[in-house]
Amino acid sequence: MTVLTGDCRALMPAHAPFDLILADPPYGDTSLAWDRRVDGWLQLARAALAPTGSLWVFGSLRSFMATANRFTEAGLRYAQEIVWEKQNGSGFHADRFKRVHELAAQFYPAASPWRDIYNDVQTTPDATARTVRRKRRPPHTGHIDVGHYISQDGGPRLMRSVITVRNCHGRAIHPTEKPSALLEILIRTSCPVGGLVGDWFAGSGAAGEACRLSGRRYLGCEIDAAMAERARSRIAAVLPFHDGAGATAPLAPEFSRIEGERS
Ligand SMILES: C[S@@+](CC[C@H](N)C(=O)[O-])C[C@H]1O[C@@H](n2cnc3c(N)ncnc32)[C@H](O)[C@@H]1O
Repeated sequence: MTVLTGDCRALMPAHAPFDLILADPPYGDTSLAWDRRVDGWLQLARAALAPTGSLWVFGSLRSFMATANRFTEAGLRYAQEIVWEKQNGSGFHADRFKRVHELAAQFYPAASPWRDIYNDVQTTPDATARTVRRKRRPPHTGHIDVGHYISQDGGPRLMRSVITVRNCHGRAIHPTEKPSALLEILIRTSCPVGGLVGDWFAGSGAAGEACRLSGRRYLGCEIDAAMAERARSRIAAVLPFHDGAGATAPLAPEFSRIEGERS
């Protein structure tokens, strides 16, 4: 469980296969010096996925539209997206609405059937029993196979695709830090317990914190050496996952080796 310092394109493929790759790359939406789109990482990420693995990428609709062909060229197929709704945010000159959301989209290798990809279902315990029942699907949806999760009357509900989590303003250690609670939802959905999450643009290491709390193994990569060191300290400060029987999730031997190698 650590963060490598360097370019993810050079370092991360050697640690494949990843059960889940999380990527929060620079969106390239602004003229800021650090906000430059990174080329060539998508092919490498696709090749670094385990056979059941998938890739969650953060971005704006603007950044996804500008890079859509790169996903296709890399052999990745779009699966679904979530909207992260935050309490505030910064917008663009053209915006006529207060911009309070970002997107995260899931992709998987185009050569793999979707049914082979690891996907758990997230639920919330806020359902109420129905008094009026809808018997069939509305006609405008056409034929859609039965979903993976059938909610019980009054029982847990399928989590909604618009997820509201406060952003990290005021306590962030990185200018575009994502809340670890949001990342934990994606990690629990797309990586089995004990599986390996690769965080290719690690920033503050928020995903490492989420992995530590949810019992997944974590390898991040951050090109900024000072930020990588802060991410390592942050992750090390989180109490590790407990399996309920008093044992903590074991750290794989290869991670000790990576710790020794880090620059
Ligand atoms: C949008 S931020 C990620 C923020 C992170 N998700 C968090 O919650 O803190 C993107 C990060 O990618 C890093 N980065 C840019 N190019 C990189 C590369 N080629 N390899 C690894 N990291 C890179 C930047 O230094 C920056 O910290």
